[in-house]
Amino acid sequence: MLPWGKPEKVCKLMMLKQRPLLLTLLAVAIIAAVAFFFVSRSGNSITELEDVVRYIEPEAYYVTGAHYKLATTPAGQGKVILPRELDVGEFGKEPEFQREVGFVGPDVCKECHEENYSTFIETAHYRTSALPNDRTMKGSLSDSSELIQTRVNPLRYEVSEKDGDYYQSVLLDRDGKTWNHQQHVDIVTGSGKNGQSYLFWQKDRLYQLPISWLKGVGWVNSPGYTDGLANFARPVRDDCMACHSTKMDFARRKLNLADRHTMILGVTCERCHGPGQKHVEFHRANPDAASKHIVHPGLLPRERMNDVCSQCHSGSSKLLQPAYSFRPGEDLSKYRKFTTNGEKAGGVHTANQFPRLRKSKCYQSSDTMSCATCHNPHRNERDRPDIFSNRCQKCHQPEACGQFSTLGQKIATNCIDCHMPKKMNKSITFDSDDADAFNQVRDHFIRIEPAATAEVIQRWKTEKQTK
Ligand code: HEC
Ligand code: HEC
Ligand code: HEC
Ligand code: HEC
Ligand code: HEC
Ligand code: HEC
Ligand code: HEC
Repeated sequence: MLPWGKPEKVCKLMMLKQRPLLLTLLAVAIIAAVAFFFVSRSGNSITELEDVVRYIEPEAYYVTGAHYKLATTPAGQGKVILPRELDVGEFGKEPEFQREVGFVGPDVCKECHEENYSTFIETAHYRTSALPNDRTMKGSLSDSSELIQTRVNPLRYEVSEKDGDYYQSVLLDRDGKTWNHQQHVDIVTGSGKNGQSYLFWQKDRLYQLPISWLKGVGWVNSPGYTDGLANFARPVRDDCMACHSTKMDFARRKLNLADRHTMILGVTCERCHGPGQKHVEFHRANPDAASKHIVHPGLLPRERMNDVCSQCHSGSSKLLQPAYSFRPGEDLSKYRKFTTNGEKAGGVHTANQFPRLRKSKCYQSSDTMSCATCHNPHRNERDRPDIFSNRCQKCHQPEACGQFSTLGQKIATNCIDCHMPKKMNKSITFDSDDADAFNQVRDHFIRIEPAATAEVIQRWKTEKQTK
């Protein structure tokens, strides 16, 4: 036995004694590393390259069209546009926010509506905007970073991940040096079933990042962006978020200034049912009472029911009221003026489901057909033609179809590929290095379409032969 006790005790004591020294050394090393990082970075920060930086005030962005000029002339090739940094205090007074009150968020609904909640969180609505993490970021990264070349040689992008944070950078080679500008990804938009776009905050201003991700294609220029012009200054307005989230309070007359503490991401319960605070308080106090203070869209007249979905599924419109102010049950035409009659989706990348559906005989000849006739908003029913074909059979027997006599029961599991064929929607494309691309979407004009029928019959024949 050693006089000073067991060896490991000594070891522990020595460690303790040396801890201050170790800590000091560690601190010095960290400071040195951080300092080196910033010195090496700031030396190459793109903002020093004055000829490639344009600062644009968000409110002037769509008015001056300076970015548009750059995008459409050779002068824009290889340029970088950054937003001007604006302090909240620069307005002289606190910005005036459009406050939407009484929202509690979907997790509170879960308390009493567990069943709807548990299936709802699997839907594209719930996932259509989120904070970035390894579950919500669908853009694939081989190794933690990826380089994206543009047509303009020295200008390229890097998307990267570090310790659970995601970044987009633009890199530019000049005079043998590489200059860069890096931006943190703060919000993910798009469930990723087709693609995703990414947003960032600069102070309390919300902007779009230049690189998006498309399923099956990979990283591409964000929709409307020009290849080879790195634009970080496109303001994200309330109308964009109003289709992709439940709520976010924007400032009046300040294009993209928002109070991020008020945001409820995802298109969730209260977007279709109205704010739930009163309902929740009432039922907590009266557990056995019949429902109060909440909208059941299925009990609304069908025009009002369809209005709930048309907020976001009717193509381009002009806002007549603040973007988030519509409440389920109200007449949507007081809030939005639709600028297309249904043939064109206009500037927004929706497939115009409501105006297309409205053209159908099914819709015109029935008093009850609404979006909820075929869609259960609380479930992910994507790619289930059998489920949807059952819904057709609420009103039609398969025997009523002219094809039944030749094709038989087989038609019963897929009415939709013949009568609601998928088609490419021109307004839903992204500009990528090699192609404009986006998945096809389901046309909601239900009709007899010989070309689609011929295609389906051909497909079934081939399937039979290969079996
Ligand atoms: C404290 C419990 C409780 C909470 C929390 C709650 N609800 Fe309810 N909800 C009820 C009860 C009870 C009913 C009536 C049940 C019934 O009629 O079957 C109801 C009914 C409903 C209905 C049907 C209304 C009708 O007219 O039939 C909807 C829609 C609804 N809730 C949505 C929500 C939403 C959205 C949230 C979250 C914002 C929420 N609820 C949170 C208890 C709650
Ligand atoms: C606040 C805007 C908003 C409202 C209101 C809204 N949607 Fe959507 N909906 C979206 C967005 C955005 C997407 C795309 C989600 C994604 O993939 O990122 C979507 C996607 C969908 C999809 C495709 C789901 C999938 O998995 O492919 C269906 C179906 C749909 N909505 C039906 C409806 C119906 C029916 C209503 C009304 C009861 C409705 N939506 C109301 C915004 C909305
Ligand atoms: C009028 C409502 C509306 C506006 C405004 C709008 N979107 Fe969308 N967006 C939709 C709908 C609806 C879809 C789904 C299209 C479909 O599947 O038919 C969609 C799809 C998307 C997708 C692809 C999602 C996926 O995985 O399929 C992305 C990404 C996206 N939007 C981002 C944005 C951004 C960013 C803005 C604003 C700069 C914006 N959207 C403005 C309604 C809107
Ligand atoms: C995209 C719009 C949309 C979203 C988001 C949505 N609902 Fe609904 N909800 C509807 C519609 C439409 C109906 C009526 C369906 C019908 O009658 O066929 C409905 C009906 C209901 C009902 C009454 C009938 C039933 O299914 O029990 C409850 C309760 C309900 N929703 C709760 C919720 C909760 C809780 C959430 C969030 C977890 C939610 N809803 C999200 C559109 C939506
Ligand atoms: C709410 C009831 C209802 C539902 C659900 C419904 N339809 Fe119809 N549909 C009608 C009515 C009513 C007509 C007009 C009378 C008729 O031709 O039977 C019609 C007409 C049609 C026609 C003839 C169109 C033409 O231009 O001549 C086709 C094809 C059709 N439906 C297919 C479908 C398919 C496919 C589905 C499912 C995706 C569907 N319908 C769902 C009610 C419905
Ligand atoms: C007659 C049945 C029917 C009605 C009514 C209907 N839909 Fe659909 N919808 C479908 C079918 C079928 C699909 C394709 C589903 C799939 O392929 O996974 C679809 C797909 C969609 C999609 C996804 C588009 C895509 O391909 O990515 C959206 C968004 C949508 N519907 C919105 C609506 C809205 C909004 C309404 C009301 C205006 C509505 N639908 C009414 C049958 C219907
Ligand atoms: C292989 C393609 C195909 C499939 C699958 C199919 N249809 Fe049809 N349908 C047609 C064609 C084509 C017509 C026009 C009549 C004809 O030439 O046979 C038609 C006609 C109809 C009509 C109008 C009948 C009339 O006399 O006006 C209805 C309603 C209908 N189909 C409903 C359905 C329903 C419901 C389903 C699923 C159970 C379905 N169809 C499946 C191709 C198809």
